[in-house]
Amino acid sequence: MKDVVKYAAFAAVLLLAGPALAETKAGSSWGPGADDTAFAHMLAASFKDKGIAKLDRLTQDETQAFCSDPEAAASPAAAEKRQRIEAANMATVNWPSDGKWLGDWKEGEKIAQSGRGNTWTDKPGEPNGGNCYNCHQISPAEISYGTIGPSLLQYGALRGGDEETMKAAWAKIYNAKSLNACSNMPRAGHMGILAEAQIKHLMALLFDPASPVNAKAGKPQ
Ligand code: HEC
Repeated sequence: MKDVVKYAAFAAVLLLAGPALAETKAGSSWGPGADDTAFAHMLAASFKDKGIAKLDRLTQDETQAFCSDPEAAASPAAAEKRQRIEAANMATVNWPSDGKWLGDWKEGEKIAQSGRGNTWTDKPGEPNGGNCYNCHQISPAEISYGTIGPSLLQYGALRGGDEETMKAAWAKIYNAKSLNACSNMPRAGHMGILAEAQIKHLMALLFDPASPVNAKAGKPQ
């Protein structure tokens, strides 16, 4: 409870400080960014290491820094840099070591359901969840899902399972920014959130004909 109050207070500070800090960034309608010194100081002062959640999370890599100014990142002038960033993210993708794309869809469903992992209440070494339902409709039986990402219902049934399709889905799950530099989807493999076997299980959830995702009755919404 204490921490909930602390985070609520932090959010309130952000709301209050946002407009003032935005003014310090000339010509930008976007709020405080990674390059804003006052904002960086506030962030550093507001968080501390706890359990496995370390302060290194506040340091943005090149992709995150680029996308922290979404207007500039989406501009035609940044097209070349976007492509370079996507290529750099694609180069991080580790393909399945045994050449097999699919694991067990039942395990995949559990991973997609779980939002656990990487918080200060998680123990080191415990496997993380994929948190996929937070943003996607997946199996038809699960009616509680987010809509930030597209529906994945009928994923394999609609797309088939050729090499190219498998590769694209794997790359998306391993490192979503390999295909869309400023994707809102987490880079599950690249950031060490999911292991190879877990990504295979999620691939099976999407592509296995026996997976409920591909059941005949389901229709994407
Ligand atoms: C924070 C939201 C978010 C989470 C969590 C998330 N995704 Fe996504 N996903 C997206 C968005 C948004 C897109 C649309 C394309 C883009 O912007 O990258 C997407 C696209 C995809 C696609 C490509 C869809 C297509 O049209 O071919 C796949 C496959 C996918 N996600 C699978 C997953 C899986 C599996 C997980 C769990 C490991 C997951 N996503 C977690 C937001 C998310």
